[in-house]
Amino acid sequence: MRKITANVYMTLDGRGAFPKYPGWDRPMRTANALFRHMWIARYDDVSTVVMGRRSFLGHHRVWSGKARQPGDPPYQFAYSHFLDRVDKVCLSRRLSTVAWENSRILKGDLAQVLGILRLEKGGNILLEGGPRIVQEALRRRLADDYWFFVMPVVYGRGPRYWSAMKAQNTLKLLEVKHGEDGEILLHYETVR
Ligand SMILES: NC(=O)c1ccc[n+]([C@@H]2O[C@H](COP(=O)([O-])OP(=O)(O)OC[C@H]3O[C@@H](n4cnc5c(N)ncnc54)[C@H](OP(=O)(O)O)[C@@H]3O)[C@@H](O)[C@H]2O)c1
Repeated sequence: MRKITANVYMTLDGRGAFPKYPGWDRPMRTANALFRHMWIARYDDVSTVVMGRRSFLGHHRVWSGKARQPGDPPYQFAYSHFLDRVDKVCLSRRLSTVAWENSRILKGDLAQVLGILRLEKGGNILLEGGPRIVQEALRRRLADDYWFFVMPVVYGRGPRYWSAMKAQNTLKLLEVKHGEDGEILLHYETVR
């Protein structure tokens, strides 16, 4: 069965945002350790990436191969190449077509959509935002594991990942990695 992993980019107060903090904009000529761990090491086992419409369109604009500029570092070309070739699912009720190659549009209850994808042939499935979909996955225990990329900022605004739940969701810690600028990567799996 294909594994479903959710990437959770969050501030210390659990907001889905990308705030500024010392080092956040340091130019990287080569991928840092967290990027290698979160992305490069998974290029071979992830074969489907699922995004909400806004995140999908944002990724297409910024991270597709067509967005790369000649001076961009090689790891960014490799990341864009991965995103171009991987099977991409854009969740949308209002779109009927998308321009990014190897993409399709799905809609419906998130658990049902993920259940259908799970039954398809392929490698693992990555839920890559936005925050509302990931929050739903956390609340409904839809993913098998979660990568929390925690930024060292108490932000005080932006969409929340945590909200009231009827039952607790217990997770098992698999690993912890530290970034160069105070980020922490926490990898947890769902306890079933
Ligand atoms: N990607 C990330 O991990 C991340 C992290 C932090 C911050 N952000 C920021 O967060 C913003 C986007 O996040 P977001 O949560 O507001 O939006 P999003 O999840 O990227 O997109 C929301 C849209 O997805 C569609 N959708 C969601 N669930 C669906 C379902 N079950 N079936 C069909 N369509 C569904 C709907 O589009 P329709 O209206 O077309 O139906 C909905 O309006 C961006 O500004 C981004 O920069 C992203």
